[in-house]
Amino acid sequence: MGTELVAISFEAGQLDFLILLYAKSNNKNLPMKDILAQPLTLPCGAVLPNRLSKAAMTEGLALPDGLPTPELNRLYGLWSDGGAGMLLSGNIQIDRDHLERPGNVVVDRKPNKAMRTALASWATAATRNGNHFWAQISHAGRQTQKIVNPNPKAPSAVKLGLPGGQFGEPVPLTKAEIKSIVRRFGVCAAAVKEAGFTGVQLHSAHGYLLSQFLSPRSNLRTDDYGGDLANRARALLESVAAVRAAVGPEFPVAVKLNSADFQKGGFDFADSLQVVQWLEQAGVDLIEISGGTYEQPKLLGVVGMEEEEKQQVAESTMIREAYFVDFALAMQNKVSIPLMVTGGFRQRLVMEQALESGSADLIGVGRPMCVMTDAPNQLLAGLDELPRYENDLALFPRWLSFLGAFKPLRALATFAVQYWYYEQIYALGHRGEADNNLTVLAATKQIMAREKKLTAK
Ligand SMILES: Cc1cc2nc3c(=O)[nH]c(=O)nc-3n(C[C@H](O)[C@H](O)[C@H](O)COP(=O)(O)O)c2cc1C
Repeated sequence: MGTELVAISFEAGQLDFLILLYAKSNNKNLPMKDILAQPLTLPCGAVLPNRLSKAAMTEGLALPDGLPTPELNRLYGLWSDGGAGMLLSGNIQIDRDHLERPGNVVVDRKPNKAMRTALASWATAATRNGNHFWAQISHAGRQTQKIVNPNPKAPSAVKLGLPGGQFGEPVPLTKAEIKSIVRRFGVCAAAVKEAGFTGVQLHSAHGYLLSQFLSPRSNLRTDDYGGDLANRARALLESVAAVRAAVGPEFPVAVKLNSADFQKGGFDFADSLQVVQWLEQAGVDLIEISGGTYEQPKLLGVVGMEEEEKQQVAESTMIREAYFVDFALAMQNKVSIPLMVTGGFRQRLVMEQALESGSADLIGVGRPMCVMTDAPNQLLAGLDELPRYENDLALFPRWLSFLGAFKPLRALATFAVQYWYYEQIYALGHRGEADNNLTVLAATKQIMAREKKLTAK
């Protein structure tokens, strides 16, 4: 989908008038320099003030019982000041036994007064500049760490293929348990809406529960939640329906979806093209395109444990830093709802090209926001390029980089670099500024110690 916006600016005496005319076609006629600043109207009627979104990034800043904290308020206040039209929360869990990480916010029941108050303060801080703030709601399934749950529930008893023993043996969900999860997606969505969030996104990417259902590698069920794609997509579509029923027709409902898992025999691009069409029919307002899983962390542009399964997609001539733009472009031919594309965007020109070509309607930015919290404002003011912290971060010093060739160490090194971002988010939440002297090793030690403390019984 593309919303063409024609801006005519003229002076009359002391006043500049801006007349904005909207017409549904594509973005092609927009002047490049203005395209990031254009509002985006969603099918439900909500309007995002510009085309930049802070992507979801897990914060780990909640209390052990899942309650949002003043640190989350400080963090999202900063990000709201940063100028993105929409902020996505890190994943909020709908089941306290299936955290993506200790310190996740958890809304798995109708909130009590303390939870209502804490959610409302968070939403107030995160929307203080009139931007949107959407809750990403999720269930981690088999990607729940052992320290949280040694036997997490999942579509089937297929363990995560990562070395290091960080994840336990999953137990297949019963149908009644699936129904309960579907219901809880709705309960969580209603709670965040009531608290003042302005939208909700179901996390069905990156190998979490809904994405596990979609993949024929992790979903071996023979009932109506497994088998062909229609069955594998059932948990997602039922959850979307529960959320829509809970929030009504005028509230933004989005889904984060993999373009592919990039794994042999996994959820592939042809599957994803079909699922986006079902999501459109289900009344979703926006789909965020990403890709990969813990086993194949394509979402971060990182090489995984196994060979990447190449996907059938026409390659564009666009500058090749954004990982999923070609997939999004192919999807745009199948659906007319807006697509957000996240992963690898660093140059303003590339973002503008993605919007201008009609590949993306909204640009997601993640890692740069962990230090440069006002990256959107800087881009809107003309900054050409965001910092690429990922190019310089490594667990091993250069002379030991050959260790990355060993698969178990490669997985450890990927997590360690993630911990550097986690720790920057912690610094923003606690002190209001990033830590310029942080090393990957120090971040890894600090995160591990903190997670141990958070899970100590
Ligand atoms: C520290 C960190 C935490 C993340 N947490 C989440 C999350 O909670 N939910 C999610 O969908 N993606 C998560 N991601 C993935 C980002 O949303 C995004 O897809 C990824 O970072 C690629 O975008 P980028 O290249 O702009 O960083 C996380 C990424 C990072 C670096």
